[in-house]
Amino acid sequence: MDASTLIPAQADLPALKSAADRCTACELYEPATQTVFGSGNPQAKVLLVGEQPGDVEDQRGVPFVGPAGKLLQRAVAEAGFGPGAVYVTNAVKHFRFELRGKRRIHQTPQPEHIRACNPWVAAEIAAVRPQIVVCLGATAVKALLGSTYRVTKDRGALMPYPGPGAEPETRALITIHPSAILRMPDDAREQGYADLVADLAVVAAAVA
Ligand code: URA
Ligand code: SF4
Repeated sequence: MDASTLIPAQADLPALKSAADRCTACELYEPATQTVFGSGNPQAKVLLVGEQPGDVEDQRGVPFVGPAGKLLQRAVAEAGFGPGAVYVTNAVKHFRFELRGKRRIHQTPQPEHIRACNPWVAAEIAAVRPQIVVCLGATAVKALLGSTYRVTKDRGALMPYPGPGAEPETRALITIHPSAILRMPDDAREQGYADLVADLAVVAAAVA
């Protein structure tokens, strides 16, 4: 089954979300608890794309509500976005993990998962019609911009967005994933966070 066959034409976000609940287009649906669809302002000027739901998101069914999500929400506010200004989602909608005892350890989604899930994020971008798509980390970059871009080399600058769900005026910005900041050594984390806020502030200023 191809995810695109589940997508109703001209679908709004509630219709997309309930269609995605039934997605079995890749193996990840089976061990995961539920599909974690995007959430936020359906008319947001800025749409942020992460990697995949984490452990907390998988249980709650909402993106970016765990530790990385809290850091991201703080950075978004500090960058100058008002409450409810943005829409957040993920390149892959099911949590990929490995069981170690009772612990569920995050595993990076593979190219086939990113490919299988791409129709969903494309449909979200087409429905929200953001001015700017923010790619948080390498998986979002691969899903939306392809493999010629690198987070460290290409972050922080507005660029054209020709990817899935794009319109002619849509732009993109690449920045670091909030989980990468949480993994930094203590003496680097503050700067890592400040750099994320600075990148998001470029986006906030561009849509103000
Ligand atoms: N990391 C992500 O990429 N997305 C989430 O929703 C949570 C953590
Ligand atoms: Fe469908 Fe995406 Fe879940 Fe795979 S990860 S089953 S493509 S919603």
